[in-house]
Amino acid sequence: MTRRLEGRVALISGTGGGQGRAAALRFVADGAIVVGCDVNAKADAETARLVAEAGGQMTTMVCDLGDPDGARSWIERAVTDHGRIDILYNNASAAKFGSIAELSVEDWRFTIRNELDLVFLTTKFAWLHLAKQGGSIINVASTAGWQGSRGNGTIAHNATKGGVVAMTRQMALEGAPLGIRANSISPGFVITPGTRAFVDNPAVRAQLTASIPLGRPGEPEDIVGMAAFLATDEAAFITGADIIIDGGTTAC
Ligand SMILES: NC(=O)c1ccc[n+]([C@@H]2O[C@H](COP(=O)([O-])OP(=O)(O)OC[C@H]3O[C@@H](n4cnc5c(N)ncnc54)[C@H](O)[C@@H]3O)[C@@H](O)[C@H]2O)c1
Repeated sequence: MTRRLEGRVALISGTGGGQGRAAALRFVADGAIVVGCDVNAKADAETARLVAEAGGQMTTMVCDLGDPDGARSWIERAVTDHGRIDILYNNASAAKFGSIAELSVEDWRFTIRNELDLVFLTTKFAWLHLAKQGGSIINVASTAGWQGSRGNGTIAHNATKGGVVAMTRQMALEGAPLGIRANSISPGFVITPGTRAFVDNPAVRAQLTASIPLGRPGEPEDIVGMAAFLATDEAAFITGADIIIDGGTTAC
């Protein structure tokens, strides 16, 4: 593994598990200094322990990024501790699911807050810090932003993830003159704590896996390698893009 992000300060949200934990481990292996964040203190402490065990440098903070004060304090603490922000990886999210008829207004708002608001808030507060020396934003969208889901009640999740793709394009346009690149990644079905309920249900898992041409669900490591690449100078001419990583599902 080359240390192609040596010394860069990378803020990664949702480092308590799944892709966020894998990202923290991947980015420190590439030489980055990681600043993590999660609402789940115990899970995030475990990530920090794993990173330290791997010889990486990571600080972390328990905060709710859907709250403007939480998002602001995460960014300010990173700048106080490290003096700069080079990479903002908006990975954290939480969604509620339900059919159009059944999803409550509260669950709709919960999803917008925890999948869309937090991307805007962290980006807003990090923006001028990224602009100081240029930087890279990686937003995690989803194939749910590109296609509906038969029978799975994903209306709010479709809205937020489509919104993340759209916001990324705007970030790319506003960021270009400032040296800020912004891209999104749209994963398909990936095995993480967030998909545990689907993974543990043999019928649902089989149905989801059958829709994947490569014949298996993704692992967090299938996603975070692309995020690390997008953060490097090798991706210097890539901005405003959405990279779909889904084992071929949306090719069908
Ligand atoms: N796993 C999949 O199949 C899949 C597919 C497509 C897209 N995604 C996206 O990938 C990203 C990572 O997903 P994952 O499966 O690893 O999820 P996960 O649920 O395993 O991890 C998400 C982490 O974010 C944290 N979090 C949630 N809301 C937060 C908030 N307001 N403030 C701070 N932390 C918060 C959670 O505590 C959790 O540790 C998400 O944006 C998700 O929507 C996942």
